[in-house]
Amino acid sequence: MRAEPLAHTQERRTRATAVAHPNIALIKYWGKRDENLVLPRVDSLSMTLDIFPTTTTVRLAPDTGHDIVTLNGRTAEGEPLRRIVAFLDLVRERAGSACPAVVDSENTVPTGAGLASSASGFAALAVAASAAYGLGLDATALSRLARRGSGSACRSLFGGFAVWHAGLDAATVAEADLASHAEPVLCGDLDPALVVAVVDAGPKTVSSRAAMRRTVDTSPLYEPWAVSSARDLTEMRAALLAGDIEAVGEIAERNALGMHATMLAARPAVRYLSPATLTVLDRVLRLRQDGIPAYATMDAGPNVKVLCRRPDADTVAEALRGAVADGSVVVAAPGPGARPVHEDGR
Ligand code: DP6
Repeated sequence: MRAEPLAHTQERRTRATAVAHPNIALIKYWGKRDENLVLPRVDSLSMTLDIFPTTTTVRLAPDTGHDIVTLNGRTAEGEPLRRIVAFLDLVRERAGSACPAVVDSENTVPTGAGLASSASGFAALAVAASAAYGLGLDATALSRLARRGSGSACRSLFGGFAVWHAGLDAATVAEADLASHAEPVLCGDLDPALVVAVVDAGPKTVSSRAAMRRTVDTSPLYEPWAVSSARDLTEMRAALLAGDIEAVGEIAERNALGMHATMLAARPAVRYLSPATLTVLDRVLRLRQDGIPAYATMDAGPNVKVLCRRPDADTVAEALRGAVADGSVVVAAPGPGARPVHEDGR
């Protein structure tokens, strides 16, 4: 299969396949100001990875009577199915279609690897579904659409580093909806790697959706973090432009620890970080003391992603392997944005 540029998707199709990669936020998205439109309270910035792609095919199926969704070979039901059908409803509404679809999605993240698959999942679904229903959207519109499936998915439309605008300056909700999408970020000479340390592959106890709602509603630390996160973003853009990996890492680490502090102060507290997480954080600190720039970030789970220079990635991975006895360590580099895929091998 071969990837093709987005412009080639414009013609009407009844079947389309797309591939998308996960992204990891260096400036976090945490908190919504509109749950239905998935409008965030803060801007965020991420790196799209070159590992664990999701490949999704959407086929219009007028005779099935309802949507049929298969995730990694198993028929989807419950909440995952509900979210995908709601997303397809959005696409159908825009296309003026009532036609059900058959969706087949393969995610290459090893089962329970603790890396969010909703970003790559909804980015691939946005590209495949909009092509199958003939919407002819550009990358910005696809990013906006992917956002409705899962906020972080809007960043996976773009490769490398991407910023997601919250649209906070918009005067109306409709304007904010238009303004809230991701776009690529200008970077200087940076050769980064992200070393993923999986310390616990089990399912999370609280979904990120529920956890961010509780944090916004009850944590006295949420507003101060949101204010400082806006400053972090400005500094992060400058650090990326300067190709300054130390500054990029320092800002990313403090932003992530601040986000987790907001959760710890929620009522009741949300705690994703485990003793194993702290062991890895200690190891990252020791790497820095040994002169290797390595900086940690954590999302809605105990696993740790460590930003470093690509030439240092093997040393960092080796050090983390020593810290996660039962876990696994994978090295990622910046990866491509979501795109349609030819199925005929051309
Ligand atoms: C901690 O994008 O999964 O990974 O919009 O509710 O689907 P929903 O949330 P989701 O949240 C990701 C939160 C995060 C930080 C980030 O990726 O920016």
